Amino acid sequence: MSERRNIIEENESCVRSYCRKYPVVFETAKGSYIYDENGNEYLDFLAGCGALNYGHNNGVIKGELIDYLLKDNITHAMDMYTKAKAEFIETFENRILAPKGLEYKLMFCGPTGTNANEAALKLARKNKKRMNVVAFMGGFHGMTLGSLALTTDETSRNGAGVPLNNVTFIPYESGTDIRFDSMDYFEAILADDHSGIEKPAAVFVETVQAEGGINVASIEWLQRLDRICKENDILLVVDDVQVGCSRTGTFFSFERAGIKPDMITLSKSIGGYGFPMSLLLIREDLDIWKPAEHNGTFRGNQLAFVAAKAAIDFNIDNRVDAGVVKKGTIVETYVKEHILPLDERISLRGIGLIWGIDFSKIGDAELSHRIADKCFEKKLIIERAGRGDSVLKILPPLTITDEELIKGLDIITEAIKEELK
Ligand SMILES: Cc1ncc(COP(=O)(O)O)c(C=O)c1O
Repeated sequence: MSERRNIIEENESCVRSYCRKYPVVFETAKGSYIYDENGNEYLDFLAGCGALNYGHNNGVIKGELIDYLLKDNITHAMDMYTKAKAEFIETFENRILAPKGLEYKLMFCGPTGTNANEAALKLARKNKKRMNVVAFMGGFHGMTLGSLALTTDETSRNGAGVPLNNVTFIPYESGTDIRFDSMDYFEAILADDHSGIEKPAAVFVETVQAEGGINVASIEWLQRLDRICKENDILLVVDDVQVGCSRTGTFFSFERAGIKPDMITLSKSIGGYGFPMSLLLIREDLDIWKPAEHNGTFRGNQLAFVAAKAAIDFNIDNRVDAGVVKKGTIVETYVKEHILPLDERISLRGIGLIWGIDFSKIGDAELSHRIADKCFEKKLIIERAGRGDSVLKILPPLTITDEELIKGLDIITEAIKEELK
């Protein structure tokens, strides 16, 4: 075994996870590829779980970062005023929010996605003076206790060690075999003085449940949810941590439904270069925080601001959204032509450049695991999601070329053929 792998395995906590699935030592990366210490090349269909939408070591963003570092610009400043922060805000306002007719206050949170959700939870409860919130079965919102209370998968919840309270779960539009109109149900419990469920301060929703198995909510369902929230004085919080930043073909994933959430959480690819950054967008009148009421040492990583600004410029200048829509069609067409015919029990779901190939109906609990392992053997990094981890999750960098996309899809096809019994 590699000496480096050895030292990590001997010393790092048992909590480590991705390294168990891809047990080599990675060293360099460029674009859609990662290279291990022996120079082997791996095509990346995981993209930092959505943190690398612009590819590894994106040259345009890297140039800005190197320039920033060479000039001894400030790298850590808590939430003090800095040039890097001002330039990010200006770019985000002028190139993302204003053209979409969106107006939000920006809150920079501790550096990971879960922290933006924690902040949104606190702020929703503070505004509405209600404790309960609604979240959806299959949802994933992070690992700190507030966000974990909104998250449904058993393994994650089992780590909490304390009760995870004050959340009412209702079924998502899809993702289970339950044939049930959860919006009818939501309306009914809100109207019923015998529902036994406290009116929530907010609803937390992913427009595409990513970790939950690539369940894509329909436009009608999202619009109805938005309407119910408005009619009942409940805040709508869209968790765009994984599927924001153009993953679905528009910068924000909810744009296709024409809704304006009360709060939006962003992280992962907002940091542009794989840098930690997390952002809560707040409808202006809801911004009732007192100074330092949700604080943190690493709010506003200056290098992340530089990368985030450069990433937005890169995104708009290169029409990334249009590319995602086009490449999404390539994935959909390919899977329908080459993979679905392999077994009628395989299904496909997705939008933009997030797709799930679902093997759950085959009744072989280990199949998706074997396929993902086989892909790795064939030098493709790909992850699984959903109930029983039965969904193969296609999540490449948005900058991937058509050829790279087909190459990865060919590997998946070969792996499925070899593992389907
Ligand atoms: C939708 C969603 N929300 C929140 C999170 C948590 O983000 P982080 O791992 O950066 O805390 C994730 C992580 O995968 C996510 O997919």
